[in-house]
Amino acid sequence: MQTVFSVPRRVPARQNVPLRDFTTFRIGGPAKYFFEPRTLEDLRLTFAAMREKGDMPYYVLGGGSKLLISDEGVEGAVISMRRFEDNYIARFGSLIRVSAGVQLRRLVTSTAAWGLCGLEDLAGIPGTVGGAIKMNAGTRDRSIGDHVSYVELMDGDGTLERFPLSELGLGYRTSHLGGRIVVFVELELKPAVPDEIQERLMQAHERKRLTQPLSLCSAGCFFKNPAADSAGRLLDQVGVKGVENGRAAVSRKHANFIVNRGGATARDVLNLVKVVRQLVKSHYGVDLESEVCVWP
Ligand code: FAD
Ligand code: EPU
Repeated sequence: MQTVFSVPRRVPARQNVPLRDFTTFRIGGPAKYFFEPRTLEDLRLTFAAMREKGDMPYYVLGGGSKLLISDEGVEGAVISMRRFEDNYIARFGSLIRVSAGVQLRRLVTSTAAWGLCGLEDLAGIPGTVGGAIKMNAGTRDRSIGDHVSYVELMDGDGTLERFPLSELGLGYRTSHLGGRIVVFVELELKPAVPDEIQERLMQAHERKRLTQPLSLCSAGCFFKNPAADSAGRLLDQVGVKGVENGRAAVSRKHANFIVNRGGATARDVLNLVKVVRQLVKSHYGVDLESEVCVWP
């Protein structure tokens, strides 16, 4: 990979990095510039270098498990957070402070091992803690936001601020972070009997394994559930399971998962999305809203 400009120390800007390797869909063209900061200082220096280059647009990448990236890739910079303080989880009684770069899976298993409950429903959700906050990841009824107390965000000027939950605008698979990057998260959990926590973890894993195509490349559910209904049920009812477009297909296991059968393009996926959305619209009058973040 060619290095085009560097911020001091160890955050080189790599150029033309293929993004498909950083997404669970395994789809996506190149990032013009690609940074992988490991510390707060790295992140500040990254922003400073980007400003020097003329305020380039930037995209924040976590585990890439809720992303569909265009086949042409993205102009500007991608800041990958997957190495950002990726070992940092600290416990202060029932309060947890964790870095945005930690894998959500690791947060869930660590807190369970400490005898702290609350995050069991997040078992089996891929991605980073930062991505989980941005998407307010969870199940139908519960999400990570239910346990968050504060989040530290950095803006493009390198300014770090700590926000209480009430100012983050967390809702069903949504947040209002104003373009800032999640860097650290504080959660308040509750002590519980470790065996009971493990049992709930196993049940959550099992539910996912039985109902979702976990071994195939996807970005999870493609559409949000409409109020008081299920996008998966509506899609199933209109008969789209197994429908294909190019190398993209609707999962036969769960109709709200679009899967890459190997070599799918973003165009394959978006054309399929158009067809199935239209079918639900014409049968039920429901406009399904995408849950997957589409770049650019
Ligand atoms: P990414 O996909 O990298 O990014 C998603 C969005 O978050 C983008 O807008 C990105 O810019 C932003 N972002 C990422 N990191 C940061 C940061 N540090 N600061 C600011 N913005 C950031 N989701 C659920 O909610 N429930 C489920 O049960 C579930 N099951 C899944 C099962 C499978 C098999 C797959 C593939 C996905 C599933 N998902 C599920 C979707 C996905 O795992 C979650 O949305 C996850 O929280 C996304 O995190 P990520 O780090 O991968 O984010
Ligand atoms: N259903 C069907 N056919 C299908 C899929 C589902 O009839 O092909 C029915 C089910 O039988 C059930 C209902 O639809 O009666 C709901 O299905 P399910 O329990 O699978 O839950 P969901 O609403 O489809 C939601 C989240 C998932 C999360 C599960 C955990 C959304 C859009 N989806 O799925 O999150 O894992 O609950 O229970 O909120 C994601 O966001 O990426 C994701 C996978």
